Amino acid sequence: MKNLISKRSKELSKKMIKSICILKNTFWKYGLESQLKWFKKYIKPEDIHNMIIQNDRLIGYTCLRYQKAKATSFRNYLLFDTLIIEKSFRNKKLSYALMNLNLKKIKKEKKVSFLKCNDKLVEFYSKFKWIKLKKKNFKIVNGHCKNGMIYNLKIKNNLEFFNFWIY
Ligand SMILES: CC(C)(COP(=O)(O)OP(=O)(O)OC[C@H]1O[C@@H](n2cnc3c(N)ncnc32)[C@H](O)[C@@H]1OP(=O)(O)O)[C@@H](O)C(=O)NCCC(=O)NCCS
Repeated sequence: MKNLISKRSKELSKKMIKSICILKNTFWKYGLESQLKWFKKYIKPEDIHNMIIQNDRLIGYTCLRYQKAKATSFRNYLLFDTLIIEKSFRNKKLSYALMNLNLKKIKKEKKVSFLKCNDKLVEFYSKFKWIKLKKKNFKIVNGHCKNGMIYNLKIKNNLEFFNFWIY
């Protein structure tokens, strides 16, 4: 049986954190040690971890991280960080369940969410009502990206400018 679970960082056990890092490391191969270090350094207590668990095994994961922003209507946002389905479970439409949980949580927090992605994934996220931002309408103040997409904000006009920080 598959379970969809959402937890704040402060509710995660050490074992769960390790499972998250192991799963992330299957795709972003920085090494388990480095994944654990990154988690400890950058994940804040209120950040949200959405997971698909099957028979005690983590097979899907997304992290929503609280970050600072400067825009007319918001001062912080949820960075949509990491989307992964364990390799042997891909192409079974499982990402739909995880994405729907992610969207539900973003709305429940009443936050705008922002993500960075490559060209291939723009179409994927568009399926879930994410909107691609025009390059002239946003900046990652302390970084850069190929494409920026936003969720849970009605863009009122083309003049609105978003500053996002990613730490
Ligand atoms: C991206 C990922 C989560 C998708 O999960 P999945 O189980 O392979 O995909 P699903 O079976 O749920 O397919 C959902 C839909 O998305 C499409 N899709 C899947 N992966 C895609 C990709 N990399 N790019 C574009 N579309 C993709 C599928 O074709 C399918 O479309 P359809 O329903 O119109 O046929 C998975 O491939 C993965 O974990 N990849 C490695 C990590 C990664 O690249 N993460 C995203 C960047 S952070």
